[in-house]
Amino acid sequence: MTEVPHPRRVFSGIQPTGGLHLGNYLGAVKRFAELQAIDAEPIYCVVDLHAITAGWAGRTQMAEDTREIAAAYLACGIDPERSILFNQSQVPVHAQLGWIFSCVARLGWMNRMTQFKDKAGKNAEKASLGLYAYPALQAADILAYHATHVPVGEDQRQHLELSRDIAIKFNNDFDAPGFFPVPEPIIEGVATRIMSLRDGSKKMSKSDPSDMSRINLTDDADTIAKKIRKAKTDPEPLSETLDGLADRPEALNLVTIYAAFSGQTPAQVMVEHGGQPFSAFKPALADLAVAKMDGIADAMRRYQSDPAEIDRILSKGADRAAELAEPVLKQTYEIVGFIPRG
Ligand code: TYM
Repeated sequence: MTEVPHPRRVFSGIQPTGGLHLGNYLGAVKRFAELQAIDAEPIYCVVDLHAITAGWAGRTQMAEDTREIAAAYLACGIDPERSILFNQSQVPVHAQLGWIFSCVARLGWMNRMTQFKDKAGKNAEKASLGLYAYPALQAADILAYHATHVPVGEDQRQHLELSRDIAIKFNNDFDAPGFFPVPEPIIEGVATRIMSLRDGSKKMSKSDPSDMSRINLTDDADTIAKKIRKAKTDPEPLSETLDGLADRPEALNLVTIYAAFSGQTPAQVMVEHGGQPFSAFKPALADLAVAKMDGIADAMRRYQSDPAEIDRILSKGADRAAELAEPVLKQTYEIVGFIPRG
């Protein structure tokens, strides 16, 4: 087989395990929307198969969570005409290719996954096999489309490394040089790791028990402003320069959020706001966040009030996704030597 370079193709996914927060927005969805101006037909997925690896929210909740993430994508500017937007379980190729990749990935590789260790906790014996195999399914998500570029936050870097290893090992082991591209993570911009508002050493997360630790996309203006006002900081004013924030993770996080919203670098934010007390900086940040998030919660509610329309958008997206993924699976089966149904 001759190696042909793969054309650029963007893929990314979000788990429907509860609503989205500012970290998901600044680190992922906002950038997904921006990529639509650069890339033809980026593929954005609600990864519902992944969402049952660590428990089941219940039948009704599962569907609601999936529609909520779809609504968030749409409210944040994902245009289902320009992008392919769908939920993973509608395209069986993900699970089919995921199995093959489970046979390519090595136990030693999976054992190194820090997210498995974090999510499984102390009692890893009780974790599901799916949680363990999760990154092999993630590799299938990407490679089913021969995707070459994957915008994600910093916490997905290790999973992306594994996807790369799987692509390389499949191509080697099955004697198919260059068949799967080796996908590149796009972990760019200032907001690749937004931290908790209550603890600057922990990333902002859906699973944090404190709602004050995160800004949800569904929060109204007063709630956003309150959460920023109450964000943990130290008593000192902002330093004059960015270097002065090296050991002040909470302060640095707020400056980072300001930079992400204003389209500046953190150093530029410091030129304007360096030396200010938090009593001045926090209200400036709150005003900016409220202005930039204006309309997202309302738009989400609007989309969610019409679940049939969301389902229609997802089905249409799934048809387009399947059209791309099915030939890749067919070729993969041929490469492996599986006899097709006659
Ligand atoms: P998930 O659903 O946890 O998160 C969705 C996206 O949000 C980013 N993110 C953050 N970025 C900055 N700061 C934060 N505090 C923060 N928290 C989350 C994540 O990096 C991610 O980009 N395994 C993936 C879903 C997935 C996927 C894929 C992604 C499944 N298959 C294929 C890309 C390609 C996950 O659990 O993301």
